[in-house]
Amino acid sequence: MTKQRFRLLLAVIALLLVSIICGLAGAAHKDRPARSRAAQTETTDPPMSYVETTLAQWQIWPLMLVNRTHAVPDDYVPPLFTLENGQQFDARMYPEWQKMVLAAKDAGFTMEAAYCYRSNETQRQILNERIAWYRKQGDSAAEAERKAREYVAEPGHSEHELGLAIDIHAAGETKAENLFAWLKENAHLYGFIERYPEDKVEITGIAYERWHYRFVGRDAASEMYEKHLTLEEYLGEE
Ligand code: DAL
Ligand code: ZN
Repeated sequence: MTKQRFRLLLAVIALLLVSIICGLAGAAHKDRPARSRAAQTETTDPPMSYVETTLAQWQIWPLMLVNRTHAVPDDYVPPLFTLENGQQFDARMYPEWQKMVLAAKDAGFTMEAAYCYRSNETQRQILNERIAWYRKQGDSAAEAERKAREYVAEPGHSEHELGLAIDIHAAGETKAENLFAWLKENAHLYGFIERYPEDKVEITGIAYERWHYRFVGRDAASEMYEKHLTLEEYLGEE
């Protein structure tokens, strides 16, 4: 065999090998079951990283809805900050709370974050105490429970467990009605809303509590204030 013929033979063998390999790969590809678009998305989207999850949570935390139909997520642990009086709330709302306290002071009012974060057990204890109190007043068990639940949320369904609620009390010389009138008109500037207004009991499912303020962030609070919306109405949820 001449050198030239030998080279030609090698080229033909190489060509054959390449086409066999390509053919096999193509067949393997065809044999794979076709995946739906959803399945492709599922497998091509990487799971959210810890940082992404934390960021997403960071953005939605002030707008978490907790009420009769929406429970506090099982594993929810707010990052708590402890105040001088021993009360705790979500540390992320502390700067706005501080600004609101100072603005109130400038307006002539002293206020205190009297009751803030509560564990699930504490919430249960408060509900039971309230029921016992109505029983002592002579109410039947069913009536005592109904009345208690108008003011105290079911354990697992209280914003106090989120660490985003503050029961505000007037302190020092400040008269409660003056403080609450000021808060009603100004709290939204610091991201807080009066959570259970007198004329929205049907929507919130909780009796009028002029002292219970909830942090939602400035933008949401201002829109809710201007349009006179509850958190349920703002989020379009029940
Ligand atoms: N007092 C409010 C509704 C609570 O118990 O969360
Ligand atoms: Zn409260």
